[in-house]
Amino acid sequence: MSDVVYLTTPIYYPNGPPHLGHAYTTIVADAMARYRRLRGDRVFFLTGTDEHGDKIAQAAAKAGVTPQAMADQNSAAFREAWRRLGISNDDFIRTTEERHQTIVRRILQTLWDKGEIYFGKYGGQYCFGCERYYTETELKDTGGTCPDHETPLTHIEEENYFFKMSRYQDWLIRYIQDRPDLIRPERYRNEILGFLREPLQDLSISRPRTRLQWGIPLPFDDRFVTYVWFDALINYVSALGPLDGEKHLTFWPVVQHLIGKDILKAHGVYWPCMLKAADLPIYTHLEVHGFWRIGGGKMSKSVGNVVEALALSDTYGNDAFRYFLMREMVFGLDADFSEEAFVGRLNADLANDLGNLVSRATTLMATHGGGVARPLVDLGDAELGLKASFATTVESVEGAMEKFAFHAALAAIWEFIAKVNRYVDASAPWALAKSGDTGSRERLEVVLSVLGESLRCLSIVLSPFLPRAAMKMREALGESGDLRLADAAFGGGTKPVRLTASKLSGLFPRVEDKKPGARASARSADDRPGTGLISIDDFGRVELRVAEVVAAEAVPKSKKLLKLTLSLGAETRTVAAGIAEHYAPADLVGKKIVVVTNLQPVTLMGVQSQGMLLAGSAEGRLAVITLDRDLPPGAKVE
Ligand code: MSP
Repeated sequence: MSDVVYLTTPIYYPNGPPHLGHAYTTIVADAMARYRRLRGDRVFFLTGTDEHGDKIAQAAAKAGVTPQAMADQNSAAFREAWRRLGISNDDFIRTTEERHQTIVRRILQTLWDKGEIYFGKYGGQYCFGCERYYTETELKDTGGTCPDHETPLTHIEEENYFFKMSRYQDWLIRYIQDRPDLIRPERYRNEILGFLREPLQDLSISRPRTRLQWGIPLPFDDRFVTYVWFDALINYVSALGPLDGEKHLTFWPVVQHLIGKDILKAHGVYWPCMLKAADLPIYTHLEVHGFWRIGGGKMSKSVGNVVEALALSDTYGNDAFRYFLMREMVFGLDADFSEEAFVGRLNADLANDLGNLVSRATTLMATHGGGVARPLVDLGDAELGLKASFATTVESVEGAMEKFAFHAALAAIWEFIAKVNRYVDASAPWALAKSGDTGSRERLEVVLSVLGESLRCLSIVLSPFLPRAAMKMREALGESGDLRLADAAFGGGTKPVRLTASKLSGLFPRVEDKKPGARASARSADDRPGTGLISIDDFGRVELRVAEVVAAEAVPKSKKLLKLTLSLGAETRTVAAGIAEHYAPADLVGKKIVVVTNLQPVTLMGVQSQGMLLAGSAEGRLAVITLDRDLPPGAKVE
C-alpha cells in the first residue's frame, strides 16, 4: 500500500436533501480516510456536489427557483449533513465553481485539438432521468422502458459532439485484464468486462443549449453545453488544481474512487477512456459497493424513507449509525436497512459488548488501580493469549481494510472484545481486590494492566469507525497525543501501562424496546415492511394548524410562487406557496387555510418560507384546502 492516497466519493446531485445512500458512501470513505491517517499515510479526501444537467434544471423548475438557487441550497444541506456526521473531508467541490469549470474547459479543448472529439448526429432512445441514451441491447428485457426509472423513453435525434470512446475498447479490456484489482469487488470487474464484450459506442458529450441551458458551454462551440457526466467525472481532477501543480502531482497518481454500483459504467468505462485520451493516469482502484434497500424496495425511489433513515443518526448518535452501516452491509453486496436491525446491533454489539466492557474495566481501574502505572510484566498464559490475539486482530483489520471490507474489520475487532469480556469474567478482579493478600494484589495489578492495555489498543483500532467513542475511551484512560496504528500493540504505548482510569459508563446507552410503533424514534415505515403504512405516531409528528391569509403578493421573477402572510393567532408567518398559476393574490386574502407549521424553514426565490399550505390537485387543477366551518387562526388540525 502506498503511503499517500487520494480518496473520493461520488459528487452527489443537489436536487434534494442528502439521504442514507449518500451518507453510506461518505461514511465508509471517511472511515477509510481516518484509517489511512492512523497508519501515518498522507491523505486527501474529497466529496462534493454535481450541479449541472437536466436533473437539477428540472427539479429547480418544479420548485419555481433557479438551478443555481436549488444547487446552492441543497449543496449547503450536503455540506451541513457531513459536518454533523463528523466527516473529515479535506475539500468539498461544486461543479459550478470556477476552479472546476476552468479544468473542464481545458480538458475539452485538449481533446478537441487532439481530434478525440467530432461533430455528428445521433438518434436513439433517451431517458431524461438518467440523462443518457440506451442501446437496444440494454433495453431488450425492459420492453422499451428505462431499466432504472421504469419510465417510457423518448426518441431523440440531434446533432452533438461525440468523444471517440469506441477507439479505446481494446485498450480498456486489456488494461482491466492486466489489473485484477483495478475494479473491486470482482463481480463489478466482471460486469464491466461483460459490458465490453458488446461494441463500445462513441459518447455524446454535449447537449444543445436549445434543449438545456444549465451546463458548462463547450469551449469550441458555445451553442452547446457539456454533458453532465463528462463535466462531473472531471471533478476528481479539478479539485486538485492545475495539472502541473504540487497537489495534482502528489495525489493524482494515487487516486482511488469509491462509488455505488449504480454509477459503475460511467466510472468503469467512460472515465478511464477519458483519462487515457487526455494523457492522464488511470485511477489505482475503483471500489464499488451495493445498495441499501428499505422495506425490500429499491431505496432511491422512495426518497422519504431514505431521508428519514439518515435522521436516525440524530436519534441514536453518529457512532452507532456509522457502526450499523459498516457492520451490516457486506461491502459490494446489497443490504436491508431497518430501524429494528439497527437497534438490535446497537444493543448487542455497542451497548452490551463494547459499552459494558468499557464500563466494567474503567470502573475496576478507577476503584482498584490506585493511580499507579507500571511496566507490562508478569503476564500469564491468559494475558499472553490476549496479547497474541490482539496482534492477530490488527493483522485482520489491516487485511480487511486493504480490500475495503469494513464489515470484516469490525467483526475482527468484536472477536477481540468478546475475548476481553471473557478474560474479565475468568480473572475475576473483584475477588482479587477483596482478598487483600500480597499475591492477590500483585495479580490484580497484572489484570488491571492488561485491561487498561486492551482498552488503549481498542481505542486506536476503533477510532476510524467510532471516532467519538474512541476519543472518550482515550480520555478516560488519560491518553493524549496523536493516534497511531503503530501504537496498537500490547506494551506498544509510549508510556508505562496505566492501572487507573476514570469511570466511563453509558458509552452506548441501551435502547429499550418500547411497544412497537411507540418508540421515540419510530419514524419510518420500515417497522412494517412492505405495507407503506405509517403509524398514528408518525402522523402525530406533523403539526397542522388553521391559518388566516392576511396578505398575499406575487414573488418577483417567479411564475409559480406567491408570498403569503399568515396569522396563526399568537404569531404571524410568511409562506412561499407554489400556487401563483392557480390563484390571484386577492383571491386568497381572508381565507382560512391549513398549514404545516413544524417544517424546517427554506428560502425560495429570496422569500423565507416558514411552513407549507395544504392543497389538492388533479389534472392540472389545484385547490387550496379551506375550512367548512369557522375556527380561530392557530387552531390545531388533527
Ligand atoms: N452525480 C452522480 C455522480 C457523479 S460522480 C462523478 C450521482 N449522484 S447521486 O446523488 O445520484 O449519488 C449516487 C451515489 O449515492 C451512489 O453511487 C452511491 O454512492 C450513493 N447512493 C445512492 N443511493 C444509494 C443506496 N440506496 N445505497 C447505497 N448507496 C447509494 O449519481
